[in-house]
Amino acid sequence: MQTIETHDGLSLPKLGLGTWPTKDEECRSAVLSALELGYRHIDTAAAYENEDAVGTAIQQSSIAREELRLTTKIWWDQLQPDAMRASTESSLRKLKTDYVDLLMIHWPGQDWEPQRALETLAALKEEGKARHIGVANFPLALLRQTVEEFGIVPAALQVEYHVLLGQRALLDYTQQHKMAFVAYCPLARMRVSEVPQILTVAAKHYVKPTTVALKWLLMQPNVAAIPKASGRENQKTNLEALDLPLTDDDLTVLNGLPKNQRLVDPEFAPKWDPLDT
Ligand SMILES: NC(=O)c1ccc[n+]([C@@H]2O[C@H](COP(=O)([O-])OP(=O)(O)OC[C@H]3O[C@@H](n4cnc5c(N)ncnc54)[C@H](OP(=O)(O)O)[C@@H]3O)[C@@H](O)[C@H]2O)c1
Repeated sequence: MQTIETHDGLSLPKLGLGTWPTKDEECRSAVLSALELGYRHIDTAAAYENEDAVGTAIQQSSIAREELRLTTKIWWDQLQPDAMRASTESSLRKLKTDYVDLLMIHWPGQDWEPQRALETLAALKEEGKARHIGVANFPLALLRQTVEEFGIVPAALQVEYHVLLGQRALLDYTQQHKMAFVAYCPLARMRVSEVPQILTVAAKHYVKPTTVALKWLLMQPNVAAIPKASGRENQKTNLEALDLPLTDDDLTVLNGLPKNQRLVDPEFAPKWDPLDT
């Protein structure tokens, strides 16, 4: 599988498996099936309440731990140092592992102390609980502050990104700093299958619109995608995106689609960066 190499030595497979909102047996069997198909990058979070199932699947797969890239996240109301430690310990226990590959802050906090939280995240890495650290749902100003004021360069940023939502400023910044850019909702929760232009490109290549949407992401240098697919068939189809040869004409069509559909915008979200024009 193609990988992204970050400034601090993380080698992240470009295609991973998202696990929200699966839980229990559905999650366990999805992760096990993905691992059998060759996925080696799995995305979970404390808030998904499925870490136990993810850990069981990993155990049952018998894949060597060092071959996997496992991400978990700390929820935004747990960003005080003690709570961050407790959340991490709980995640590791449920995942049945001594470390995660990427430990992320899931969302910026409310009335929080970002420097303290980010320094705690970095300390958890130093203590061996995580091989690398990352942040999710950070707008550009906060990411810049993390790097330029707090002196912490995350290995990865995870944000919503798909062919119907632009993220130019964050992409440029992560490229400059050799961070992985992990695209969540890479299929725009299946809205990509309703866009006539994507359907046309897909028909030309005899593939599904989801495959086209994934390839558009995966061909960008530091971008990884973590589609959630609970069944083996969709997981297998999504792997085909890695080898789809999109043409310059296809890219002109896809790049030209309006990029203004933000799907994940809860009430605790930060003030987002302006949409790409
Ligand atoms: N950091 C954050 O704040 C954040 C926020 C949201 C999501 N995430 C992460 O990102 C992951 C992905 O995002 P998402 O699940 O919201 O959206 P998504 O991956 O864009 O879409 C998931 C949907 O696409 C379907 N699907 C996948 N492959 C398909 C295929 N080949 N053909 C047809 N349908 C297909 C899935 O159905 P089936 O399951 O039936 O295949 C599911 O309904 C999450 O699971 C989570 O790990 C992170």
